[in-house]
Amino acid sequence: MPTYIVLLGPPGVGKGTQAKLIAESTGLPHISSGDLFRENIKNETGLGKLAQSFMNKGELVPDDVTIRMIRERLSRPDCKGGALLDGFPRTTVQAVALVGLLAEFDGIVNYVPYITSSEPILIERLSGRWTCKAQGHIFHEKYNPPQKAGVCDFDGSQLYQRDDDRAETVIRRIQVYFAQTAPLITYYRERGLLSEIDGAQPVGKVNADLLSILRQ
Ligand code: AP5
Ligand code: MG
Repeated sequence: MPTYIVLLGPPGVGKGTQAKLIAESTGLPHISSGDLFRENIKNETGLGKLAQSFMNKGELVPDDVTIRMIRERLSRPDCKGGALLDGFPRTTVQAVALVGLLAEFDGIVNYVPYITSSEPILIERLSGRWTCKAQGHIFHEKYNPPQKAGVCDFDGSQLYQRDDDRAETVIRRIQVYFAQTAPLITYYRERGLLSEIDGAQPVGKVNADLLSILRQ
């Protein structure tokens, strides 16, 4: 049976940071809906243009195009043994669609680690985040600084600050999270899949807590 993990949590809590670490230790492919949209924006595709108009405002991209994009990604051979989903699902419609998508690959959602934190911490993390242009490696100017400012430790590419990490967009993303994504906490808790993790801890401690959940 393949293993599918859904990483749940507000913007800036550390989903991407943890997903990269779990992908390394489990070998599961890391599928980030945000990264897939940013890849499309970089390649100037039709989907990228559409997604950008929502992302710049801190709003969610419509469910139908998002679900189609994830379906295509999950159908690739590297997801045969499962996958680590970061940022999808983000609405109840997406969560219900995911059940159908995984059924096509004889899979179910096995784990939903829910990483929590307070709003001031989220804002501080997003405002100090620097992301690698080539592969999306994640740094923080205070908590996880690169060895050389502006340069990725892993591939030497340039670091940039995401457009949607501007203060006003961050506030909107957090509002959208509480209105549209937070209902998934109850959705997955009712299905016995949710495990809560304190995301205010240092990266290594959050990772240790996550791995212990995945071993259960
Ligand atoms: P997406 O890219 O998914 O953004 P997000 O959910 O807002 O989350 P972030 O990537 O901002 O934060 P993160 O939790 O990954 O934190 P990170 O590890 O980087 O989505 C962007 C947009 O795309 C959405 O707004 C929407 O428009 C669209 N979209 C995406 N998916 C969609 C969907 N399914 N449906 C519709 N629309 C969708 O960490 C943040 C910072 O904190 C970093 O600097 C990091 O170094 C630092 N840090 C991490 N952990 C710690 C720690 N423990 N201690 C100290 N610092 C830490
Ligand atoms: Mg992320």
